[in-house]
Amino acid sequence: MSAIEEIKARLDIVDLVSESVTLRRTGKNYIGFCPFHSNTRTPAFVVFPESGTWRCFGQCNEGGDIFAFLMKKEGIDFSQALQILAQKAGVTLKPLTPQDVAEREEHENLRTLLEDAVTFFRHQLLNTEAGRQALEYLRQRGLRDETLEAFGIGYAPNRWDALLQHFAAKGVEPQELLQAGLLSESQDGRLHDRFRHRVMIPIRDEQGRMAGFGARILDPNDVPKFLNSPQTLLFDKGRLLYGLDRARRSIREKDQVVLVEGYLDVLALHQAGFTNVVSPMGTALTEQQLFLLKRFTKRLVLALDADAAGEKATLRGLEVARQAMDHDQELVFDSRGLLRFEARLQADIRVATLPAGVDPDEVVQNDPKRWEQLVAQAQPIVVHVMETLAAQRDVNDPKQKNEIASHVLPLIKEIPNAVERDTYLQRLARLLRVDERALLSSLSATRKPPRRSVKSQTKPQPAPQAVAPLGQNLLSLEQHILGLLLRFPDLLFRLDRSLQEEGLERLLPSDFSSVEHQTLLRLLQEALEQDLVEPLQYVLQHLSLPMLEVSEAILEKTAGLEANPHRLLDDLLRAVLQRRQRSLNQQIDYLRFALQEAQTDAPLGELSIKQEMLSLTQTRFKIDKALKRVTSH
Ligand code: UTP
Ligand code: MN
Repeated sequence: MSAIEEIKARLDIVDLVSESVTLRRTGKNYIGFCPFHSNTRTPAFVVFPESGTWRCFGQCNEGGDIFAFLMKKEGIDFSQALQILAQKAGVTLKPLTPQDVAEREEHENLRTLLEDAVTFFRHQLLNTEAGRQALEYLRQRGLRDETLEAFGIGYAPNRWDALLQHFAAKGVEPQELLQAGLLSESQDGRLHDRFRHRVMIPIRDEQGRMAGFGARILDPNDVPKFLNSPQTLLFDKGRLLYGLDRARRSIREKDQVVLVEGYLDVLALHQAGFTNVVSPMGTALTEQQLFLLKRFTKRLVLALDADAAGEKATLRGLEVARQAMDHDQELVFDSRGLLRFEARLQADIRVATLPAGVDPDEVVQNDPKRWEQLVAQAQPIVVHVMETLAAQRDVNDPKQKNEIASHVLPLIKEIPNAVERDTYLQRLARLLRVDERALLSSLSATRKPPRRSVKSQTKPQPAPQAVAPLGQNLLSLEQHILGLLLRFPDLLFRLDRSLQEEGLERLLPSDFSSVEHQTLLRLLQEALEQDLVEPLQYVLQHLSLPMLEVSEAILEKTAGLEANPHRLLDDLLRAVLQRRQRSLNQQIDYLRFALQEAQTDAPLGELSIKQEMLSLTQTRFKIDKALKRVTSH
């Protein structure tokens, strides 16, 4: 038994959930008010002790196992939930390989050093004469002491060896400090403090662990204005987002993240109560960062300063200004890149434009309501680009009209959704006061073939031999689905297409009830979205050890399956349909219960329950039909 299974076997989901949710029994299951969305009328949160899973049939329409429950409730990630539940269950997690241990120790050491440095810089800020000037500066910028404390803001003294001496006294080798990114090496090989006479901003990863520092000048003549930690084992600019450790909960709750440019903007906004705000490290947004954010929300607002956003209308505000300093970055998101990303992730990316020459930090300090407005008025990328361009040009001049159109049409073409595309087209036509049909014809004149063609199975495939195991329980159905997908990742495209052809939704993490299965699908989708050559490699690399155990077991189970593309797809489709059939039945059962409740006590929408029931029954009908089709093959 893997550690995860063992934990699940030992802990009772009803006990665990009951710690925070009042449950009552209905038949085999338990029901209560969902802790993840505000509701007071009909309980919509059901716990199924038999399968060890839960589901909210209300607004969230989400479910999972005990891990998923704890993760969602505490806003933590899987490995944290695993630690907590393993302890609760009295399960010892498998020791790591010696290599893992060594690596982990090294990281731990560096983190401890950095934590120590945070304390050192804090001390300098609060208790020294030189620090007072920095403190004054920060206060005069409107930052309150409790904000500075919460973010651990400090001061690096104006000396070459202040930190060096501090650590030498504790017996820390300079070499270690160098590795932590706290020292720099001069031409002649001598080591000295990297940060001098600067405001020190600790940068933590999304779990709150120290990664490095951003440091702002106090003397306006110093350069550069901001100096970050160099690339270290822990500090990877492209992967970190400033403030995410403090913002993640609120990002989830608001289902929205706002990206600003500067550290000080993050501080000011959090201080004003806008806690769903993060910033990159003065570099371009990277794909990694967007993937990281995607774990918390798919709704992104980029708050750009007007000059950067306006000048080129390329949405490079978040990075272009910084490129002179950072040549080492690989990926730059311009408006087109962002649009592609948005489509690929089915995200919603918008742009909020700030008044010219004003930073979010100033906006919010002057008028918090104004900030709220700016974010609420954020525009879809395409609209932002067309309006910015129109504002800078004369839309009555035919040549300039054409120029704007030639800029915006290629963007519109990127939009996969036809309704959205048409809406933008109409909007552009109105803006330029031209006939929509004229635009339409220039659009279709340049229309490209569909962006992602379903990859064909090019590798030679051995003989058919995929047998769909029947009558299995829910979890082994899930394992079967994932086993097939992990072995033949390209099947996912074909599966999704088949599902859509049947009028059903594509495969989603929520089709699975156990957290390791949800994670596996999510990683697989990520790998495919990135067009990686070895999706399985990507998945395995991103799994923690306990999850690896699970995936290995799954892979083993499906090892006997030989690959015939046709049989495989049918097999997979059948398993997915059967899995869906079960959750649908659960849902319909739940609605029956809700209907009873509605009739007995509340004036609660009996009608809406009936409507939902109807639509579920229709879906079930589609599934049944599709199942019949695959089984008759
Ligand atoms: P800004 O110059 O807009 O600074 O750079 P700011 O954050 O508004 O700071 P104040 O208000 O002038 O004090 C925005 C971000 O760009 C990065 C930093 O991350 C900064 O927060 N940056 C800027 C650098 O990395 N290096 C620089 O030299 C300047
Ligand atoms: Mn600023």
